[in-house]
Amino acid sequence: MSILSLEGVSYCYKNSLRPAVADASCDFEEGTLYALIGPSGSGKSTLLSLLAGLDLPTSGDVLLDGVPIRTLDLDRYRRESVSMIFQAFQLFPLLTVTENVCFPMELVGKSPADARPEAKKLLEDVGITEDEMRRFPANLSGGQQQRGAIARALASGAKVILADEPTGNLDVENTRLVMEILGRLASEQNRCVIVVTHDSEVADMADVVYRMKDGRLSRE
Ligand SMILES: Nc1ncnc2c1ncn2[C@@H]1O[C@H](COP(=O)(O)OP(=O)(O)OP(=O)(O)O)[C@@H](O)[C@H]1O
Ligand SMILES: [Mg+2]
Repeated sequence: MSILSLEGVSYCYKNSLRPAVADASCDFEEGTLYALIGPSGSGKSTLLSLLAGLDLPTSGDVLLDGVPIRTLDLDRYRRESVSMIFQAFQLFPLLTVTENVCFPMELVGKSPADARPEAKKLLEDVGITEDEMRRFPANLSGGQQQRGAIARALASGAKVILADEPTGNLDVENTRLVMEILGRLASEQNRCVIVVTHDSEVADMADVVYRMKDGRLSRE
């Protein structure tokens, strides 16, 4: 069974005549890197928000392991089942990089003493040095911050990683590095990784490409 599915999902913003997402159906599997492409305003971020459980569809369902998420504890779904990565990194500025990665673990009840070594391991895996781990986000490069944000997204152990333009603020070299990390999460850790992107070279690195146009979703 697919880890995540859309069944006839539509979403209409309040006071909007046209649905931002219109009757979208598709399946997302573990161990696969997906790209979601399409013009500005076509509904990509809206669709990602629905997958993240930030809002519920106006009609249709998002299913986790075949179960509609509207029947689940949504706070728990957002905390444990999915992780998000953003274009602007969004690390907490007043926490060090290590503390940023510990945060989601402590949120689910892990003690700081247990969280720290795990955070260190996650950060090492994305190529952050011990010196960099101790810094505040503002004292790192964009590529380093994004790799820190990926480590934080992994800290909850969520099977589904959702990334909205994760390479949008990065140069070519860091884009490649970040996409390699996301690809490995799918191929080596069996996660389901869904990346929204404008960049056709980023889309080329995905296993499967979905395109949105005027709220409609199709497989390339
Ligand atoms: N909060 C909102 N209220 C009303 N309409 C919205 C809101 N957010 C987005 N929209 C509209 O929904 C549609 C889809 O927007 P969405 O942000 O999902 O597009 P996108 O594909 O992510 O675009 P981009 O590539 O520019 O990020 C657009 O027409 C947009 O104007
Ligand atoms: Mg968007």
